[in-house]
Amino acid sequence: MFKSVEWKDGSVRILNQTKLPREIIYVDCKDVETVAHAIRSLFVRGAPAIGIAAAFGIALSGENSTATSCLLFQSEIEKVALLLSQTRPTAVNLFLAITRMKETLKAHAEEPILNLKKILLAEANAILNEDIAANCAIGKLGASFIASGDGVLTYCNTGALATGGYGTALGVIRLAHEEGKKISVFVPETRPILQGARLTMWELLQERIPATLITDNMVGLMMRLGKIQCCFVGADRIAANGDVANKIGTYTMAILAREHGIPFYVAAPTSTIDFNTASGDQIPIEERAHSEVTHVSGVAFAPDGIAVSNPAFDITPAEYIRAIITEKGIFKPGEILQ
Ligand code: MRU
Repeated sequence: MFKSVEWKDGSVRILNQTKLPREIIYVDCKDVETVAHAIRSLFVRGAPAIGIAAAFGIALSGENSTATSCLLFQSEIEKVALLLSQTRPTAVNLFLAITRMKETLKAHAEEPILNLKKILLAEANAILNEDIAANCAIGKLGASFIASGDGVLTYCNTGALATGGYGTALGVIRLAHEEGKKISVFVPETRPILQGARLTMWELLQERIPATLITDNMVGLMMRLGKIQCCFVGADRIAANGDVANKIGTYTMAILAREHGIPFYVAAPTSTIDFNTASGDQIPIEERAHSEVTHVSGVAFAPDGIAVSNPAFDITPAEYIRAIITEKGIFKPGEILQ
């Protein structure tokens, strides 16, 4: 199976997701600036995957360092951590991974630089492997909510591409399919970047999981027609009160699900829960380039000079979420335990 991000021969190898599904192009990042660019430009995207990419970015700058003292080495890593933390604001996994890498370094401050380099790389690999293990656990817990014959709505891309491997919400769907349940997945295209159409449909096709691509504005009709029995989405940040930041459009789908009496589940590793953020109102929402809305594949379709808004995420209030499925158990959104 492909890997969205990995350590390969002294570089951070990133699968350029902006080219999928037409081209499979890997970028071998040889410096941290290239890693930061890859995160900002969505070569690598999805909350867990950008955390992993940032951790490897820090390990990479450690590897490349020619610092002659531990103090210098530490201050280089601090600068790199700052650069990476300015790439994308919403997914908390990014900040958690960066903090973990910095704390690991601090905990071994007395070691020689050669050891520090190895320690940083081992920590980045640990973050990657823990994410894969968490996803497998989420899949097992979440699949019990899917019955054979169900139509399952998912949104954006929460699969192997968005994580260390396997996926969160898509991992749940993957496992239900592996268990032999006859499911049918509905995938809204996910404007403006089309993660659903380009990435989720690509992953489902490879797994031979029956799936239908729809536009985002078809969800209400599909629900009304009785084609959808449950919804599984991922998260970029879950506030302490259970409010969830996820791809723009998630909120609308949660309201539609409530209106039609369809359960709406969030599947995410505990690394996505931010206990320092009390509610969704405090989660910073990334505003991206307006050209993402006015253009498709570089071709403009809207008039020039118009007002455009492009928030990349929205907040789904806890009350719309039936349960949050993590690797540590299933929680009611208002009852997440630290
Ligand atoms: O802008 P993106 O593609 O990084 O947004 C991704 C999402 O919103 C995902 O649903 C979320 O990160 C969960 S991925 C397991």
